[in-house]
Amino acid sequence: MTIGIIGGTGLATLGERPTAVADSAETPFGLASGLPRRFAELPNAVFLNRHGDRHTVLPHLINYRANVWMMKNSGVDAIVAVFAVGGIARSLADGDFVLPDQLVDYTWGRAHTFAGTDNFLHVDFSEPFDAGLRQALSRSADRIGLDLCDGVYGCTQGPRFETPAEIDRMERDGCTVVGMTAMPEAALARELDLPYAGICLVVNPAAGRGLVSLELADMRKVVTDAEPTIRRLLVEFLQLVEQPG
Ligand code: HPA
Repeated sequence: MTIGIIGGTGLATLGERPTAVADSAETPFGLASGLPRRFAELPNAVFLNRHGDRHTVLPHLINYRANVWMMKNSGVDAIVAVFAVGGIARSLADGDFVLPDQLVDYTWGRAHTFAGTDNFLHVDFSEPFDAGLRQALSRSADRIGLDLCDGVYGCTQGPRFETPAEIDRMERDGCTVVGMTAMPEAALARELDLPYAGICLVVNPAAGRGLVSLELADMRKVVTDAEPTIRRLLVEFLQLVEQPG
């Protein structure tokens, strides 16, 4: 089983000497964020950085259709996404990990579907994050002694962060974390029949939940500190799906 890993967060130290899996980032839907890559150390995985190799593609400008299509075309059987998020639930602290089981989509204007006049499609999305992948991620977390709690991912448009009133509304809607990239990525994977799940790294208290304003530099530090854990979790997960049991 080949797993596509779409990240932006915490994938900097996954392996050395990556080899590209495609010749070009061009797809029928335009340019993907970059070339999908394989690392010799992790042969059953293909990686794509959704923000581009130099982390310059903002969440609302990501070509999600091209990225998901590129993953499918690279032969992956499922996708695991890695997200940086703000913590809405007051129980969450920076550096915590969440395994979302539901989502609420607040994005707008993104190219969000492969459906069209020549492709009549209404996919079931009652379980936006695949149960089997979630279970495997959860078992992998157990094996490395990592706490991974369930949660609801609220996806905002960005690139600005939210207002405290927006975060309060999201909390009333049932969201426990907030990020900008799970949608339409999750829905597009579903449309291409790719099981999809994600892990969220909490990198800040959501707006109005902390005592300080939101600073990218602080979030980057949380990501850097968490990178070894993300790597361990993914390595464990890749071994588990390779040799179930
Ligand atoms: N809001 C939206 N997206 C985010 C946040 C946040 O607070 N932190 C990291 N990604």
